Amino acid sequence: MASASFLSTIGKRLEGKVAMVTGGASGIGEAIAKLFYEHGAKVAIADIQDELGNSVSNALGGSSNSIYIHCDVTNEDDVQDAVDRTISTFGKLDIMICNAGISDETKPRIIDNTKADFERVLGINVTGVFLTMKHAARVMVPTRSGCIISTASISSTVGGAASHAYCSSKHAVLGLTKNLAVELGQFGIRVNCLSPYAMVTPLAEKVIRLENEELEKALSTVGNLKGVTLRVDDVAKAALFLASADAKYISGHNLFIDGGFTVYNPGLGMFKYPEF
Ligand SMILES: NC(=O)c1ccc[n+]([C@@H]2O[C@H](COP(=O)([O-])OP(=O)(O)OC[C@H]3O[C@@H](n4cnc5c(N)ncnc54)[C@H](O)[C@@H]3O)[C@@H](O)[C@H]2O)c1
Repeated sequence: MASASFLSTIGKRLEGKVAMVTGGASGIGEAIAKLFYEHGAKVAIADIQDELGNSVSNALGGSSNSIYIHCDVTNEDDVQDAVDRTISTFGKLDIMICNAGISDETKPRIIDNTKADFERVLGINVTGVFLTMKHAARVMVPTRSGCIISTASISSTVGGAASHAYCSSKHAVLGLTKNLAVELGQFGIRVNCLSPYAMVTPLAEKVIRLENEELEKALSTVGNLKGVTLRVDDVAKAALFLASADAKYISGHNLFIDGGFTVYNPGLGMFKYPEF
């Protein structure tokens, strides 16, 4: 009979891998960093929230398993340095999670939206992802291996679910992901995208102006799939799948974690049971 330690080793899907997670100090990125660590990966957390980032890193077994690196994804020197430090600490980079992102306030009229806000969102959500992908590719192409995953959103495909800037930025993240999957396929590098429905994180709480259970309740009313609640761990599990060997032939894919939200039109009500 297999021993418990043997089973726990084979159950680890990222044993021996090294991952870098941008925006890893909070929310979805933090959940990804934790799950990847539990599955045997060494993890570099790149963020601008130093105190939070350090505490997440310390909780992942300390410096032999995880490091925190201050990295503003809009600053190319920071991104280059974060990638280089990950490699000098852990010897390589197998998985890049381009997750850092922000949203602005949703203003119903475009005429009330400012150029500065628009550019700030695109700067982090698009230029930041571009720079992170670029420097991941810089070190992955020579080794002819690797996996890059970006965090987009349901707003990568539908309109009307977020601000103009956020929706534009997530469509751009998807475009960049697809283009890079085409470029890097020749090197055996997979590039994919996660597109979650909304869930409780500091970002969502700030935009929707509701917290915890209140926010979950509001999101569940609007969501398609009832009886379950989307949480950051669910997105982390989707990232784990895409990063693992189970997804070895999946590239250029936009994986929706949205309970069917993006495929339905609530206005039609075609399948509404009369008794509900
Ligand atoms: N929460 C949701 O409902 C939801 C849904 C779909 C997609 N997303 C996306 O998931 C990603 C993570 O968001 P979250 O909800 O976990 O929010 P969050 O605010 O909890 O985490 C975002 C992290 O990104 C970091 N960050 C922001 N600007 C940065 C910069 N310039 N450089 C480096 N790091 C920076 C923040 O410090 C923070 O730690 C974002 O790309 C977001 O658009 C979130």
